[in-house]
Amino acid sequence: MIRARIISTGSYVPPKVLTNAELEKMVDTSNEWIVSRSGIRERRIVERDVATSDLAVQAALKALEMAGMSAEELDFIITGTNSPDMFFPCTSCFIQSKIGAKKAAGFDILAGCTSFIHTLSMADKFIKEDPKRKVMVLGAEIMSKITDWKDRGTCVLFGDGAGAVILTGEEGERGILSTHLHSDGSLWELLYMPGGGSANPPSHETIEKNLHCIKMAGNQLFKVAVRALAEVSQEALDFNGLKSEDIDYMIPHQANTRILEAAAKLINFPTERMYLNIERFGNTSSATIPIAIDEMNRSGKLKPGNLILLCSFGTGVTWGGGVIRW
Ligand code: COA
Repeated sequence: MIRARIISTGSYVPPKVLTNAELEKMVDTSNEWIVSRSGIRERRIVERDVATSDLAVQAALKALEMAGMSAEELDFIITGTNSPDMFFPCTSCFIQSKIGAKKAAGFDILAGCTSFIHTLSMADKFIKEDPKRKVMVLGAEIMSKITDWKDRGTCVLFGDGAGAVILTGEEGERGILSTHLHSDGSLWELLYMPGGGSANPPSHETIEKNLHCIKMAGNQLFKVAVRALAEVSQEALDFNGLKSEDIDYMIPHQANTRILEAAAKLINFPTERMYLNIERFGNTSSATIPIAIDEMNRSGKLKPGNLILLCSFGTGVTWGGGVIRW
């Protein structure tokens, strides 16, 4: 059996730290509220002149270095992002040009915070078609530039960062076992950015009304997220004939510690085996899972054969999951 296996990882977060104490000076909030409601203590924020592809390139170069591979060997670059450099061209094309991946076909996926699971799913299909292919998938976001810094309900949650993984085909049991993708567009109003697109093209009015920033019904989204994450995790386990106890690590989208604990409880998954770094980075949307995978990989936590359960949830609404044998 040929499987798409992750052969290297990389991640990058900008150096500038924004702490909860600093947010206390910007909006009516408190460190205690943010930590108890979300689990976040600090997040990373880019400087004004940095674009999403700049973060992605740093993550990409680290992944290439770990693989001992040149960028020219890549066949595909697929980036999950909700905060692209520009509407078009796609951020993957900027990354391709900046790292010199001349042969690679680049395109983006915009499916909310779930986008990284979509990129993995695409890589899996491309590699099953031709196992020799080398596919880089990324999650990269600059959420700080689409955040309303006066809205305490959202500005405390998000951060900037990027993660990348390289996959290729390999005979055997290691690699992606399955991915599972879902969406329910009727719930779009729970999380959206109304301005700038064809529905509300940029105008003085859209700027004045702050329509180019995230709008979120946090409390409603919370409940939908818990259920969706639990359901897709169970679906991924059932599909592979696995039980919670077979899984070595769950690497979930880092949206909110309470959401993740509640979802884990629904499928009887022990939180000790759930990898969390939300405390340090907040919600970096599509980038949370690849950053977490890279941290675990570089710290030696992931051992060959480990079973990893992925799950994510985001605007759309979208949700997805999967199982990897490391
Ligand atoms: N500091 C202090 N108080 C705040 C606050 C902040 N940063 N943000 C909101 N509040 C207030 C609200 O105004 C509300 O006050 P009220 O009761 O006087 O109206 C109160 O806190 C409770 O708000 P609520 O939204 O019910 O809190 P919550 O327990 O649902 O937690 C979130 C808020 C945003 C942390 C939580 O709903 C959440 O994480 N939702 C999902 C968000 C998410 O994951 N989005 C991305 C999906 S990928």
